[in-house]
Amino acid sequence: MDDQATRLRMLVEGKITKEDTMDSGRLQGSSQSMAYQPVSQGARVIAITSGKGGVGKTNLTVNLAIAMGKKGKRVVVVDADLGTANVDVLLGTSSRQTMMSLVNEGVELEDVLIRGPYGVSYISGGSGMEHAGELSTIQRQVIFNKLAGCDDWADIILVDTGAGVGKNVLDFIMASDEVVLVTTPEPTSLTDGYAVLKAYCSLGAQQPIRLVVNRVFDLMESHETANKLICTADKFLHMKLESLGFILDDNNMMRSVRKQVPIMAAYPDSLASKCIASLADSLLTGREQQVKMGWQGFLRKFFHNVR
Ligand SMILES: Nc1ncnc2c1ncn2[C@@H]1O[C@H](COP(=O)(O)OP(=O)(O)O)[C@@H](O)[C@H]1O
Ligand SMILES: [Mg+2]
Repeated sequence: MDDQATRLRMLVEGKITKEDTMDSGRLQGSSQSMAYQPVSQGARVIAITSGKGGVGKTNLTVNLAIAMGKKGKRVVVVDADLGTANVDVLLGTSSRQTMMSLVNEGVELEDVLIRGPYGVSYISGGSGMEHAGELSTIQRQVIFNKLAGCDDWADIILVDTGAGVGKNVLDFIMASDEVVLVTTPEPTSLTDGYAVLKAYCSLGAQQPIRLVVNRVFDLMESHETANKLICTADKFLHMKLESLGFILDDNNMMRSVRKQVPIMAAYPDSLASKCIASLADSLLTGREQQVKMGWQGFLRKFFHNVR
């Protein structure tokens, strides 16, 4: 029986192969399902998400921001992980004002856009973000109008979402131009990652979604892990998931977290830093021209069609 449990078991056991996907009736071309036309200028919004927590989203987000900054891009990180927001923690800073503070008169974008260390600018979502759905239309409009100014500050906005398939996470995913799904080779991370793809698919999402396999021991493990998820998504969801790349398991990552200095700053020559620099490169060279909704589109969707 082709139920979800069977699919997940096959996924974990690696029994789904490329051949299994050939009869899915889909185009196999790499960019067919992801092609879209740029309709706006403005910042490119990329959500970094995962099925399971603790797989490396926040470290990837913060370090991608540093890597992209080194390449001359203006990047703003939005900490949208409502349960365990910790961009602050990784940077060794703290912020009193959060995105939700914007609802208050007199609080402007400059007050919540923190110029953090290592050139990382970020906005903390803060615990109040889970109440975004309860805001009145006027309150949404106020926040939207103030946040819209971010376009002037950033070429790229990286949104560190929470893990899983909760409404808040999916809202952020749906509002972004592109999605990066982070997984580790662990079966639980893969099956939870698949659950995100399934939820994303059921909402009719069209944004390109690309996979980063974190904490791999070698290239082969990275390929095997990516293929399991790519083939399963293709066969059962008819979704074209692309591999963006991998990050090697590296003790320097743990050391940098303990020091509260991002690995790109603490150990720029480490293997994990090199992997992240190369992921930043792929993101910048492969997709830069494909801005779709931009920051304004992200805000409009997230704050429910405010105009
Ligand atoms: N490439 C890596 N190599 C070794 N440890 C890693 C790596 N990536 C992440 N970690 C470990 O995983 C922990 C959780 O990472 P984090 O970015 O906070 O995950 P998430 O945001 O998905 O919850 C880090 O504190 C670090 O110890
Ligand atoms: Mg996190």
